[in-house]
Amino acid sequence: MPTAVKTFSIDELARGMVRYIRDPVAFVHQVLNADPDRWQVEALQLLADEGRVAIRAGHGVGKSTLEAWAVLWFMFTRPFPKVPCTAPTARQLFDVLWPEINKWMSRSPVLKKYFEWQKTRVVMVQEPERWFASARSAAKPENLAGIHEDHVLFIVDEASGVKDEIFETIEGALTTPDAKLVICGNPTRTSGVFYDAFHKDRDKYATMKVSCLDSPRVTPDYAERLKRKYGEDSDVYRVRVLGEFPKAEPDVFIPLEAVEAATMRDVCDFDDRWEPILIGQPITIGVDVAYFGSDETVIYYRVGAYVFDPIVRHQQDTTATAADVVRLARQLMEHYRRPDVRINIDIGAMGPGVLDQVVHGSKGLHGRWNVVPIAFGGAGDLEHHDMATVLWSHAREKLPEVRLPNDERTVAQLSTRKYKVDIKGRLQIESKDDYKKRYPEDGSPDRADALVLCLYDGGVDAVHAVQTTSVRPATAGIRRKTF
Ligand SMILES: Nc1ncnc2c1ncn2[C@@H]1O[C@H](COP(=O)(O)OP(=O)(O)OP(=O)(O)O)[C@@H](O)[C@H]1O
Ligand SMILES: [Mg+2]
Repeated sequence: MPTAVKTFSIDELARGMVRYIRDPVAFVHQVLNADPDRWQVEALQLLADEGRVAIRAGHGVGKSTLEAWAVLWFMFTRPFPKVPCTAPTARQLFDVLWPEINKWMSRSPVLKKYFEWQKTRVVMVQEPERWFASARSAAKPENLAGIHEDHVLFIVDEASGVKDEIFETIEGALTTPDAKLVICGNPTRTSGVFYDAFHKDRDKYATMKVSCLDSPRVTPDYAERLKRKYGEDSDVYRVRVLGEFPKAEPDVFIPLEAVEAATMRDVCDFDDRWEPILIGQPITIGVDVAYFGSDETVIYYRVGAYVFDPIVRHQQDTTATAADVVRLARQLMEHYRRPDVRINIDIGAMGPGVLDQVVHGSKGLHGRWNVVPIAFGGAGDLEHHDMATVLWSHAREKLPEVRLPNDERTVAQLSTRKYKVDIKGRLQIESKDDYKKRYPEDGSPDRADALVLCLYDGGVDAVHAVQTTSVRPATAGIRRKTF
């Protein structure tokens, strides 16, 4: 069936503009049929009154929604506006913010009449070239360049993760009286434009802070859980619940800032289904094997610099874990067309059983399998007290290059582990037992340990890798992922 032709006069739209230009709250109520939370009402009003608005907040309070509303309000209330939107990762931009705009637009018969939502733009149907919002990747400053208009609104989601050079480009376009900028996010980094907006540049911005504790969107359980596990003083609680910048305790081995930055980093392109494109890149799997009981067996895997969500098993025996690892390795080699795999397995406690069975299971399969036993308690070197510290140091060095999934427990475990210097002047990471004493609710830091295993590609002098080589080369065609 043909879609109805959208006809209306600009005069008709102009009446709406006049009505809502100073009143985005009424716009949200009446045109979007939405009911803003109290902080969202305040934020919308700030946006109407001020040029630059910076909002730091805990998780899930409705930041992206506010931004989506701001986009639609600006599009509706200005003639020939431009609304460039950006975020640190393509997924955040195209898979979170853009659908959020669609969600609210599609609820509004009025907006549907004037505007059309497209994959990377929202356009006014009669003036698509001159009246639009657009999603622009923050990968390169050029993407945000060249916008000089009377009515322009820049939206930056997850602003802590956006590089300063992008803001410099935006700054160059904020020249007219009706040029606006909204920057929102979790306050994960204590430097950069987003941090400065609340500190040295606070005279330039209208600022707000939104805690999850004040938000009806976030269940109290979330805050309670993080508080119980990591404490009110922890950076994880400060950043993710309170919307406070991290304190970065001096004896924490990997600061939260570095971990959060890795969760907001693009290291590859994606296909239409948001699968990362990583053909031919090296594959590494890290396996931290649990004791029976409450601990988790965690398998992290990485292709090139892209670390996938962990596979987590409870109360699983070594045979089943080994089968998981062998299956995963086969599928990854096949899917990413890679003839080899490296598997780092923790051989404390139950690990040797898994290692033996993985080696056994890989015999006769395609490809070169480097199955590497790693003892966290093993010897260190001149700079590191033990093997655990070697692994954690390696992970810390590697972190600026990789992408991590936003797995809350992993992020917390990585960013709360402490260290000291031993009597020989070597670094020494806090023992698992000491960590468990500090965070009894969190239990064993298995997720972080599996991740550091997954990031490790250093030498293994102290131990010898087991290699099995296939009789047949890995030439399997690409198949959709099933792991
Ligand atoms: N006032 C509102 N009325 C109804 N739904 C809302 C409102 N505000 C937010 N939401 C919904 O709540 C959910 C969380 O909001 P949103 O994604 O904007 O939060 P966020 O602060 O950006 O989260 P994150 O920290 O994950 O980025 C979304 O599904 C959103 O549509
Ligand atoms: Mg968001």
